[in-house]
Amino acid sequence: MALGWHPVRILGILFICVVSITVLVTWENVSIPSFDALATIKDSIGSLAHRNSSLRKNAYQLDPPPEHPPYGAVIAAGRSNEDLTWMAFFRQNWTTFPYDVDNANNSNEALRIPKNKGREAMVYLSFIIDNYESLPWCAIFVHGHSEAWHQDDTIVRLLGNLNRAALSRAGYISLRCDWYPSCPAEIRPMDHDAVVWGPGYLRDEAEAAIAGNWRQLFPGERLPATIASPCCAQFAVTRQAILRRPISDYKRVRQWLINTLLEDEVSGRVFEKLWAYMFTGEAVHCPPPQKCSCKYFGHCMPKKWTPTPEGLPPLPDWP
Ligand SMILES: *[C@@H]1O[C@H](CO)[C@@H](O)[C@H](O)[C@H]1NC(C)=O
Ligand SMILES: *[C@@H]1O[C@H](CO)[C@@H](O)[C@H](O)[C@H]1NC(C)=O
Ligand SMILES: *[C@@H]1O[C@H](CO)[C@@H](O)[C@H](O)[C@H]1NC(C)=O
Repeated sequence: MALGWHPVRILGILFICVVSITVLVTWENVSIPSFDALATIKDSIGSLAHRNSSLRKNAYQLDPPPEHPPYGAVIAAGRSNEDLTWMAFFRQNWTTFPYDVDNANNSNEALRIPKNKGREAMVYLSFIIDNYESLPWCAIFVHGHSEAWHQDDTIVRLLGNLNRAALSRAGYISLRCDWYPSCPAEIRPMDHDAVVWGPGYLRDEAEAAIAGNWRQLFPGERLPATIASPCCAQFAVTRQAILRRPISDYKRVRQWLINTLLEDEVSGRVFEKLWAYMFTGEAVHCPPPQKCSCKYFGHCMPKKWTPTPEGLPPLPDWP
């Protein structure tokens, strides 16, 4: 029989064309893991925070907020020269963890960290790793100060106002609602074309570090084109949100922090930009500020927020 253009043959060629074109088109987006990353990828598959969406929807029923104290833990990444006595105000309602980053080998074993590195990040990750098997219902991660420019209120009042039912559903809530200076497009790790507003101190360095270290931090997870969440590394997170990732994820990123040659101000910022992603799986996690303020902290009176500059979308209307 002659080898003519038999229909089966044509179909075969068509099939190969389609496959080749698909591979070419998607090639750029396929991340090819480096060899030593392969071992950790197995761990990460299934650890993408939003993989099990049913778990998130059911979080409230599954693990409702406690009705009686302690409502959760407050973890402060203090320094030796910082006065943490303000934490005593809520000790009756919250378990407190007054870490001192300058005293890594604390006499209180529960407050030890491997090394004073990466600012608050080492404390937050160490708390999660050390308590992963018996996490409090929620963890409130804060710096050592009760008041700061980047907080809408004192920590004591923020805690008192925090809507725990809303936290239960959200999983992660930034203690800051204002978009200034980070939302909605602060880090552009591939295109480096972010419209910066605010001081943007060490932002370029943090962006470059995120791009360059992504595969070590989150092997098997795709580097997002845009990463943004309200600044400044103080937030509430439920144990359900923490448990969406295996402990190996937290150990891996902490080991990266221990090993990195980046200066603390940059490595700390790398995590500052990534907490929301780690716990929600959303690279851009920017709730409308008035929604955040009303739903999460009970301040529902209209408030003037810092308007976004030209080149960024305006603040979304809410409600
Ligand atoms: C997702 O969550 C549901 C509800 O908790 C659970 O039954 C299921 O086993 C989970 N699936 C995975 C892959 O973890
Ligand atoms: C502790 O919680 C209770 C009940 O929510 C509240 O009435 C009380 O004011 C809280 N105490 C402090 C010191 O925040
Ligand atoms: C940490 O402190 C304890 C006592 O508080 C001491 O026994 C131990 O040797 C110290 N470890 C290091 C690494 O310095």
